[in-house]
Amino acid sequence: AGFLALSLGLAGCSFTTPQSSLDPKGPVAREQLDLFYLTVWVCLGIFILVGGALVWVVIRFRERPGDDAKPMPSQGHGNPMIEIGLIGGSIFLLVIIAIPTLRAIWFTQGLPEDKPYYEESKLGTYIKGELAPEEKDNVLEINVYGWQWWFAFEYPQLGFTTANEFVMPVGKVVKFNLKGRDVIHSFWLPKLGGKVDIIPGRKNWLWLMADEEGYYFGQCAEYCGAAHAYMLFRAEVVSEDKFNEWVADYKQGAAAPSGFTAKPTAENPHPTNQDNWTAWAKQNAQDPQSLPQDDATKGAQVFMGKGKCIVCHTIDSSPAGGTIGPNLTKLGQRKSVAAGILNHYTEDGGLDEAKQAENLLNWVAYSHRYKPDNIMYYQMGAGLADLQYQGLTYADLSK
Ligand code: CUA
Repeated sequence: AGFLALSLGLAGCSFTTPQSSLDPKGPVAREQLDLFYLTVWVCLGIFILVGGALVWVVIRFRERPGDDAKPMPSQGHGNPMIEIGLIGGSIFLLVIIAIPTLRAIWFTQGLPEDKPYYEESKLGTYIKGELAPEEKDNVLEINVYGWQWWFAFEYPQLGFTTANEFVMPVGKVVKFNLKGRDVIHSFWLPKLGGKVDIIPGRKNWLWLMADEEGYYFGQCAEYCGAAHAYMLFRAEVVSEDKFNEWVADYKQGAAAPSGFTAKPTAENPHPTNQDNWTAWAKQNAQDPQSLPQDDATKGAQVFMGKGKCIVCHTIDSSPAGGTIGPNLTKLGQRKSVAAGILNHYTEDGGLDEAKQAENLLNWVAYSHRYKPDNIMYYQMGAGLADLQYQGLTYADLSK
């Protein structure tokens, strides 16, 4: 019992932790857990039989006083019936495990089309490439890019990208295309399913579905360098209405600082966020002092400054279009920074804004303390720590 408890403890198999694969919240995770339990029970049965036989033999045939005086026991060589029985029994047990394993592989590849969610999403037809173009939106696709040490999540059908936290609708089939770019990573959302390796040059994929709304914890599950243990991600599962709202909001990109608006013209009576940012950037280049001197503007001036954040990061609609680091559009909505290392979610799944401001400051200024070897620290180094001595707050970055 002690050994079993220790094994479970070392394996991190608590039922209650946010990353427990023993608490499935979707069909793929459930299928995988059923298979896991079947294998565990079969192996436990074999362990008890073999271990029990061993213990029995050791006790039954132990050395006793006076053994030396007894004649040698009869020396047999092999027993065809026992050998056939052992081979037959082993084959039987392997088949017992193999049938549900094959069924689970079939299932996670989305192929039995009679499952209700497959019928609705037509996932199997989709995978076989036989789905009509107008039906393609039945399956939400998310392209997952693994980087050292963070995740990018691209919505190819919707035309935008986010990082380290993504949003998906509850009760819908989502197909994840896993795209490797640097080294091998692995995509694992324990409560929903996984894990599948992200391998450069290979088209790996998996589908997942969530039964319940919530904030799910994911993790890179393949050793990928110094900060592998710090390569986490989150999935926010929301109702379909909320998802559509999020999509509409995200598509607009970020608003310009302090509600800055471009002057409407006859050709463009309703300036977009992008127009506002363009006008903001122009005014910032010509006469930065003429902009409102509030935190949001100061933050944006630092972010968009020469050789600063803008070089590596994108914020949709803004002049920032760097592609080396995570896309930071709507960063303020995310409940963690540094790929799940610094968290600011509340017990009820909300956002702790004070903690968020503190986390952003710590991450930007001292990222090497939280994620050794990260590129941002080596590129910007002490330059980032210097920023705080200029009396700036980073809370505004979140806006
Ligand atoms: Cu990426 Cu481990």
